[in-house]
Amino acid sequence: MLQKGLKGVEAVETFISHIDGENGRLIYRGHEIGALTESYSFEEVAYLLWFGHLPDPDQLHSLKEQLKQNRNLPIYMKKIIDLLPPELDLMGVIRTAISAEGGYSEYGWKPTISQAIRLTAITPTIIAYRKRRLEKKEFISPLYDLDHVENYLYMLTGELPNPAHVKALETYMILTLEHGMNASTFAARVTASTESDLVSAVTSAIGTMKGPLHGGAPSGVIELLNRIAFVGDAEKVIREKLAKGEKLMGFGHRVYKTHDPRSMSLKATFLELVGQDQWLDLAVKVEETAVKLLEELKPGRSLYTNVEFYATAIMKAINMDSELFTPTFTASRMVGWTAHIFEQAENNTIFRPQSKYIGTTHTRK
Ligand SMILES: CC(C)(COP(=O)(O)OP(=O)(O)OC[C@H]1O[C@@H](n2cnc3c(N)ncnc32)[C@H](O)[C@@H]1OP(=O)(O)O)[C@@H](O)C(=O)NCCC(=O)NCCS
Repeated sequence: MLQKGLKGVEAVETFISHIDGENGRLIYRGHEIGALTESYSFEEVAYLLWFGHLPDPDQLHSLKEQLKQNRNLPIYMKKIIDLLPPELDLMGVIRTAISAEGGYSEYGWKPTISQAIRLTAITPTIIAYRKRRLEKKEFISPLYDLDHVENYLYMLTGELPNPAHVKALETYMILTLEHGMNASTFAARVTASTESDLVSAVTSAIGTMKGPLHGGAPSGVIELLNRIAFVGDAEKVIREKLAKGEKLMGFGHRVYKTHDPRSMSLKATFLELVGQDQWLDLAVKVEETAVKLLEELKPGRSLYTNVEFYATAIMKAINMDSELFTPTFTASRMVGWTAHIFEQAENNTIFRPQSKYIGTTHTRK
């Protein structure tokens, strides 16, 4: 039987992560997500996803070194980015720059972890380079002493970032490293299943991530929060949107039918690290009102905040520009995409589902 949007269809077997949508749990390679964000760094959790176990100190040191050594953009890539029209959004820029990667490396079949490290290392630099060039500011080269997340914030501003902001962003990035068979990961695996190279598979994923129903949701959340802040009446704004048949961005999830654990974890981090903040107060109020109204107007659909909702509020609180939200999600999800591409490559069958023809057939007279 046809399942529109492949709802409920299991497309692959995986060792990488488990989403328990009924109980609101997310597990990376056997580890509860909450335990990982509490005790481990971005690099340690990336290692876990790529290699299947947490690193010992030498393994962690080696991964950090490789990420640092791969952060710089080649000159040709900078030139390509500079030639792109200023109206092109950052996701389009990342898609183009990553697609152009490969001049100095071999990206043939099969994909390797060194290639994944390279793509993970350059993505924040691509984002920071483009952002500062468009703002007519000098590009800030990566700082070797800094770890991945701290260096990303440093390249954006040129200042050593506040440790609470680094921790908040690192929590967000760990929470969004991986999430099962979401649309972009599926796209990556479909491309990899043709025995195409890692760069091509990741480029497919970036294009898929860009859409507003997936990684592009934050801009919708900002719009919602801004509108409510402007009107000053959350219930009125939300009722109007729902009456028009609009979806509330930052709410609902294909798999979670209870609270999204990532959203809950971000809310807790937000309360702990950022403390009193106007965006947090607004977000908490909007969440309460929206969940109540969704239950009233869409009963039984179990609609709660998803990861994008509190991610947006956190990013606002750490002064990250809204145009950076989806690109930052992309920078972290690079790890999950590449882990899935390796898994696909190890046990590959090309994806080739059927389509059901519902058109007419003209018979010859
Ligand atoms: C994430 C999402 C695409 C999941 O979609 P899905 O599993 O296909 O669920 P559906 O779109 O079929 O929605 C099921 C029902 O809940 C409603 N619904 C789902 N999300 C909703 C939302 N955010 N606001 C209002 N209603 C929503 C749908 O209108 C539908 O109602 P119906 O039964 O009356 O037709 C969807 O919830 C959505 O578009 N959310 C907003 C975008 C977003 O935040 N994306 C980020 C995801 S991490």
